[in-house]
Amino acid sequence: MNQSITIALSKGRIYKDTLPLLAHAGIIPVDDPETSRKLILDTNHEHIKIVTVRASDVPTYVEYGAADLGVAGKDVLLEHGGDGVYEPLDLQIAKCKLMVAGEPGFQRRGSRLRIATKFVNSARNYYAAKGEQVEIIKLYGSMELAPLVGLADAIVDLVDTGNTLRANGLEPLEHIADISSRLIVNKASLKMKSQTIKSFINHMRQAVGEASAA
Ligand code: ATP
Ligand code: PRP
Repeated sequence: MNQSITIALSKGRIYKDTLPLLAHAGIIPVDDPETSRKLILDTNHEHIKIVTVRASDVPTYVEYGAADLGVAGKDVLLEHGGDGVYEPLDLQIAKCKLMVAGEPGFQRRGSRLRIATKFVNSARNYYAAKGEQVEIIKLYGSMELAPLVGLADAIVDLVDTGNTLRANGLEPLEHIADISSRLIVNKASLKMKSQTIKSFINHMRQAVGEASAA
């Protein structure tokens, strides 16, 4: 029996990197999210749909059951709080690091270190674990600008090649976490659509294995 399933993906790198894994599971989207304005994409299986949402919204769609499955960066899951969804598989895609970065040899401006970031919870937890009191300033993007214009002493952001930091005269200072994207599953869906979802997870697990062996 083929139960209908909905998979939440964000456009851009997660979509691009998930596509070959989906293909391995025999799932091919009919619509291209980069050219289509549609937010619900058909696939070659009538009972499988893909919804395209903001990367940071994927856990919300999955937690509330608006999507049965999703792909989200560990950074996003750490911010969201892990309890609402199952996280059965590390897809080993969109790999990067969550790091503290700043200007070389920067001096803090006030008594407390000021950190600009969109990863507020991860930053707070990291400094709390170190026993360091910091002031966190929430930003939604372009974190690298904050130390350059005196908004913050340092930032907590994702780093891959380090090119963005270098281009802005910043350097990586402290490693917080290794990041990759995870397959996440709605808890009720796993029970109600157990066979279909377990089979999907198995296909994806095989695809990850083959991709890492290649
Ligand atoms: P939102 O739209 O919610 O603000 P976003 O713009 O950060 O999210 P993307 O840039 O597509 O979304 O990033 C999606 C995920 O890819 C991130 O959550 C992270 O796990 C990973 N990622 C981000 N930047 C990089 C990078 N430079 N290299 C590799 N992986 C990355
Ligand atoms: C991400 C992240 C960093 C950059 C790091 O931004 O926010 O700015 O990648 O990658 P690098 O170390 O290889 O330079 P992205 O390119 O996704 O842009 P966005 O945050 O505006 O989506």
